[in-house]
Amino acid sequence: MTPEQIELVNASLARLRGRLPEVADAFYRGLFTEHPEVRPLFTGDQARLRVKFADELDAIVQAIPDFEGFLGRTRSLGARHAEYRVRAEHYGHVRTALLAALADASGAGGWTAETAAAWRLAYDMTAEAMMLGAAGAPGRAAAPGRPAAG
Ligand code: HEM
Repeated sequence: MTPEQIELVNASLARLRGRLPEVADAFYRGLFTEHPEVRPLFTGDQARLRVKFADELDAIVQAIPDFEGFLGRTRSLGARHAEYRVRAEHYGHVRTALLAALADASGAGGWTAETAAAWRLAYDMTAEAMMLGAAGAPGRAAAPGRPAAG
């Protein structure tokens, strides 16, 4: 990602910050409607999911500029996700629901082609590193179609 793209993602998140609870609700509504099978992975109530959603966006945004720490932090995040029983295919489901919720909340003016491309890249980099971490998690291979062990 270029510094300009990192800045686009940061600015976009800053604009949405005050409305993150409703963006989170839209994200989970979309995700659980399209993929009801992932609903049981999430324990806890809606309020906790909103906090988790904000943490998730912050994790993406903060991880990217710090390349030194990026791989280490996202790999261990991915290894924890394998323990939450998240599989590789779920990353695509979350990608679609997340980008749709961000686009809706941003409106046409805030969701330019450049901003959309920057978010896609930020998500994909984070997700790829997380999947590497998941693959390295002991006994918890996260290859598509292969159920998590344990
Ligand atoms: C770029 C992608 C993602 C990021 C940055 C991310 C980030 C996070 C963070 C920061 C947490 C808080 C707990 C922790 O740090 O271990 C979390 C929890 C969780 N995430 Fe993700 N996540 C991502 C993708 C996914 C995907 C694809 C799924 C599968 C549907 C998922 C399911 C979960 C679940 C089930 C929890 C535990 C929630 C609970 O307490 O019930 N995440 N995630």
